[in-house]
Amino acid sequence: MKILTLDELDTKGKTVFLRVDMNSPMDPKTMQILETSRIRESTESLKDLEDSKVVIASHQGRVGNKDYTGMENHAKVLAQVLGRDIKYVEDVIGSEAQREIKNMKNGDILLLDNLRLCAEENYEFTPDNASKTIMVSRLSKLFDLCVIDSFPSSHRAHPSIIGFSHILPACAGRLVEREVRRLDEIMTVAKSPHVVVLGGSKINDRLEAIETLIQNGRADQVLLTGVIANVFMRAQGRIRFPLGIKQEEEVVSKAHSLIGEYPDVFSLPVDIAIERDGSRVEMDVRELGKGDQILDLGPKTVDYYIKSINGAGTVFMSGPAGFFENEKFKFGTESLLRGVADSFATTIVSGGHLTAALKRYGLADKINHISTAGGALVLYLTGVKLPMIQSLEEAAERYRSKK
Ligand code: 3PG
Repeated sequence: MKILTLDELDTKGKTVFLRVDMNSPMDPKTMQILETSRIRESTESLKDLEDSKVVIASHQGRVGNKDYTGMENHAKVLAQVLGRDIKYVEDVIGSEAQREIKNMKNGDILLLDNLRLCAEENYEFTPDNASKTIMVSRLSKLFDLCVIDSFPSSHRAHPSIIGFSHILPACAGRLVEREVRRLDEIMTVAKSPHVVVLGGSKINDRLEAIETLIQNGRADQVLLTGVIANVFMRAQGRIRFPLGIKQEEEVVSKAHSLIGEYPDVFSLPVDIAIERDGSRVEMDVRELGKGDQILDLGPKTVDYYIKSINGAGTVFMSGPAGFFENEKFKFGTESLLRGVADSFATTIVSGGHLTAALKRYGLADKINHISTAGGALVLYLTGVKLPMIQSLEEAAERYRSKK
């Protein structure tokens, strides 16, 4: 591997900055964490750091979104998962956080508050500028090295992801190591046709990535589900009312140009399911009325999508196909996941929601790779070098050239 792993750096007795991605789905009313797999996976590197002082840092949500909150509950889950005390400080770069870091002893673990409390962490930088942010210049003085293990945010050029690794000895954590190794193995043997089953809610990110996936030969067919399917159906004029999503006109117009440019690539739902008087009602997309909320795919769409999946050499599925947490609307997500699991293709499934769904339906063993990442994985598969990987490769080059 071009990047360094924990096997190559001496971490004993060192103060280590461990960037993980514990960004989890939250209940907007209670602010309880709904799904904890990312927190569990964030602990993978800790076994190797038992004799170090480990400062863990993550973001949660985006400023202005309902899932944007502090890390107190994450600290509780982390302590439960590890079965040990975790110190949590409601601070990121201030004097309280700095004091706690300076007072640490070998074997201690400290969790900082949501990194996005620092304005700088909400912007993208060049590696050099990221290392000159106040966050990195203040905190890096307290660390001997950094371990970057936030694969789901490897597409973000944020200070915590590329700034520390630009000036400190840096290696990948165990999660990043496992993901990169496995994905690179899979992508070297991946066969055409490549079928992408794409849902998820970060529409802008998805639209950008889809085009690169198609251009780089990684998406011969794109089967759309979830909110992104609604955006494309609106672009086609089959949904005739506003969807009420952010930057709606902009994303609908982008979807419109993508359909125009790649008319044979996209498949869209023909039937869907909504809720009426507490029951599931299936209908043709054209029968939708204003105010009807699409909660699942219908059976004709699922049949059609499964035929495409059966003809694939490689299948990549990201984002649930409906509101699968509710029994009435799990049909699309469960059926497509069963189709992916039963296909002869090489299969990759990504994101916390689908990981939870695979476990719930007992299908996890039948998938070639289950990734913790959502948007980052879509971009990784385009073949474009992601900022975190680039930064870790540069850190490895610097380290090896000094040896
Ligand atoms: C994700 O969930 O995709 C990552 O945590 C990145 O989050 P972001 O899209 O808010 O940067």
